[in-house]
Amino acid sequence: MLIHSDACERNKAPILGVLATALAGCRRVLEIGSGTGQHAVYFAAHLPHLQWLPSELRENLPPLAERIRLEGGANLHAPIALDVREVPWPVAAVDAVVSANTLHIMDWPAVEAFFAGVGAVLAPSGVLCVYGPFRYGGEFTSASNAEFDRTLRARDPASGIRDFEALARLAAAQGLVFDADHAMPAHNRTLVWRRPSG
Ligand SMILES: C[S@@+](CC[C@H](N)C(=O)[O-])C[C@H]1O[C@@H](n2cnc3c(N)ncnc32)[C@H](O)[C@@H]1O
Repeated sequence: MLIHSDACERNKAPILGVLATALAGCRRVLEIGSGTGQHAVYFAAHLPHLQWLPSELRENLPPLAERIRLEGGANLHAPIALDVREVPWPVAAVDAVVSANTLHIMDWPAVEAFFAGVGAVLAPSGVLCVYGPFRYGGEFTSASNAEFDRTLRARDPASGIRDFEALARLAAAQGLVFDADHAMPAHNRTLVWRRPSG
């Protein structure tokens, strides 16, 4: 049976609104932590100029692969097994990396590996888009995000909502230039970085 995320159904249209502009000049897009595949199916269908490459941890691949087999169009590739901690990532260079709701799930070494991996696979002029909740200046942006963070840490003390400034340092270390911070519904953000043209 396909797994389903209500959150994906709520956030996919607002995220698409950002991606449509941010990825306008891109062709090959790698998605990290594709989850249920609802985002991949929706984004690939609405952005037909892209080749969409979904990925997941090996143990979470089967339901993702099933959704893509059933619902995917011609520009949506079969998902690959990709754990950000395992280098090198099994993909050739891409024009963009997109990831939603993953950095607060990964532990900090995995977040560091995420940015190192992005740095390794992103082509010149490439784009990184990261969606989720973030903290700024050490503060949550809402009481609901603070509560969400407590829930995450109770389940896994190594997880938790990440500080924008710490992510910005990791991105800068990969030579990425901060481009935009889009406010999204439900106190989420979409952060965009770009690799200079060379
Ligand atoms: C909260 S889910 C988000 C799924 C989907 N992107 C969404 O927005 O619904 C977090 C995802 O991150 C993936 N993930 C966790 N650790 C990972 C890692 N080390 N490498 C790649 N993906 C990872 C999980 O398998 C999971 O699918």
